[in-house]
Amino acid sequence: MKWLWLPVFNTSEATLSPSSADSFAFPAEFHVPPDPHLEAALAAAVAGARVVLHYFEHGVEIRDKGQADLVSRADIEAEQAVARELSARFPTHAILGEEENCGSVDAEHLWIVDPLDGTNNFAHRIPHFAVSIAYYANQVAQCGVVVNPVRGDWYWATRGGGAFHNGRRIQVNSHNQLDQTMIGIGFYYDRGRMMEATLSAIGDFFRQRIHGVRRFGTAALDLCQTACGMFGVYFEYQLSPWDFAAGRLILEEAGGMVTDGRGQPLPLTKTSVLASNTRLHPAALRIVAEHHL
Ligand code: IPD
Ligand code: CA
Ligand code: CA
Repeated sequence: MKWLWLPVFNTSEATLSPSSADSFAFPAEFHVPPDPHLEAALAAAVAGARVVLHYFEHGVEIRDKGQADLVSRADIEAEQAVARELSARFPTHAILGEEENCGSVDAEHLWIVDPLDGTNNFAHRIPHFAVSIAYYANQVAQCGVVVNPVRGDWYWATRGGGAFHNGRRIQVNSHNQLDQTMIGIGFYYDRGRMMEATLSAIGDFFRQRIHGVRRFGTAALDLCQTACGMFGVYFEYQLSPWDFAAGRLILEEAGGMVTDGRGQPLPLTKTSVLASNTRLHPAALRIVAEHHL
């Protein structure tokens, strides 16, 4: 296990919006329906985001869990803050988090938490990362919240209640050919066959004359960006439940479709993920499935 020393930055160089860590809040002007699970997810996201922002402003030591798979006190303490908030409201509910909480995916009431999605961005001072929180009842997503705390960008959805970005309802784009669209991709930490498969699939997408590929480094936000219409397709050959638990509901509520990379229903385990605006799903699936390991 290797330790990396990342610089502690001068906070004056960071243009943090809308506020610094302590005053970070869910904006009162964003109307949300009275829903105890959504309210809990939003409050927990604020708690996690304050921790993450604090360390982003002040710097933190980053540890290498595996090949390019980083973790820091920000990840761990943010998950603790999220779990405290959720447990105070729902003491009997299970929590599955990336760092410490290992609730079972079979639990009747389950919260799935990525306290810091985009740790690599965070570690390299790229202000694009998120706190992601979802509530599942008997393995079915009921509500999801994803926030990029640096931008103050909030995404949320409730089952049957639509998907929202900063208070506005969102919808996937209406592209129906790959040559009209931009695609989002992700690489798992593997630097071997899975990486090669991803590169081969990207080549095939380009041969279909897509407008471009973006690799922003935060799966939860990639799914939200597909929900907003920025991407017509997003795929990654390996994600964990906390990476997609909230974003998949936000995308589905925005009219999108999510399956695994072979077109099967998404399991709540490590899996490939193919997300789309629905219309492009068959065309994207042909490419993603062909290179699937
Ligand atoms: C990672 C990010 C990244 C994706 C990786 C994930 P983490 O999550 O979502 O975009 O490509 O597969 O593991 O490790 O930053 O929480
Ligand atoms: Ca993640
Ligand atoms: Ca994470």
